[in-house]
Amino acid sequence: SAQLLFNKTKSVEFTFCNETVVIPCFVINVGAQNTNEMYVKWKFKGKYIFIYDGGQDNATMDSNFSSAKIAVSELLKGDASLKMDKRDAKVGNYTCEVTELTREGETVIELKYHVVSWFSPNENILVVIFPILAILLFWGQFGILREYSVKNASGLGFIVISTGVLILLQYNVFMTAFGMTSFTIAILITQVLGYVLAVVGLCLCIMACIPVHGPLLISGLGIIALAELLGLVYMKFVASNQRTIQAPRSN
Ligand SMILES: *[C@@H]1O[C@H](CO)[C@@H](O)[C@H](O)[C@H]1NC(C)=O
Ligand SMILES: *[C@@H]1O[C@H](CO)[C@@H](O)[C@H](O)[C@H]1NC(C)=O
Repeated sequence: SAQLLFNKTKSVEFTFCNETVVIPCFVINVGAQNTNEMYVKWKFKGKYIFIYDGGQDNATMDSNFSSAKIAVSELLKGDASLKMDKRDAKVGNYTCEVTELTREGETVIELKYHVVSWFSPNENILVVIFPILAILLFWGQFGILREYSVKNASGLGFIVISTGVLILLQYNVFMTAFGMTSFTIAILITQVLGYVLAVVGLCLCIMACIPVHGPLLISGLGIIALAELLGLVYMKFVASNQRTIQAPRSN
């Protein structure tokens, strides 16, 4: 037959962690004895992005795929896989066309991007729960200590100030994820108000020696936590509606 046959792969995935991306293309019945009888062409979205002309031993590639290459030494073994830097990798269907003298064949491989998350869903829950537990337990120690001391005032100050860091982080997350919308602004304003309450409560607690203004401080922290929860819910909804997240560029 005049057909080249392929060891077919439907799709391959890459993640943020792949430095180089390899799109596999294996011919199983190569007959050529010399690479100068071979011709390899890679197509993406109907355009040729890489051409290797064995007769000239010369490779040309599209400017958008400047890092694309094949291993010429592997060609006679049937390996015409295309390698490129992650920055050039675009998701979609790639067509591998191989010609040797009068025989030819082609195969299509889909390149997919796979979002890797740091934690599994179960681990995510723990990552959220443990800091909250730590804060609760810290508050529990207050209950045992009872008497005002410089030590627990500074601990309290630390909690309040670190929630301020949370607000800055929240702002950052919103800006990078979807920019400012009226809802994200409302959440941030709520958090800042909660923060002001918490700081005023903290100052009153410290000045009064006996923390009579504890509820003020706690309601401030509560408001911040509530706004954080709203932010999480918002994030879930908007993120699931915006599933067309682009593969991040490496530079
Ligand atoms: C990405 O890296 C993984 C792990 O090294 C590898 O198994 C996978 O084939 C790579 N994906 C591509 C498309 O090169
Ligand atoms: C390179 O990519 C840009 C944007 O994706 C596109 O407009 C342009 O036509 C591409 N150039 C070539 C030579 O394919």
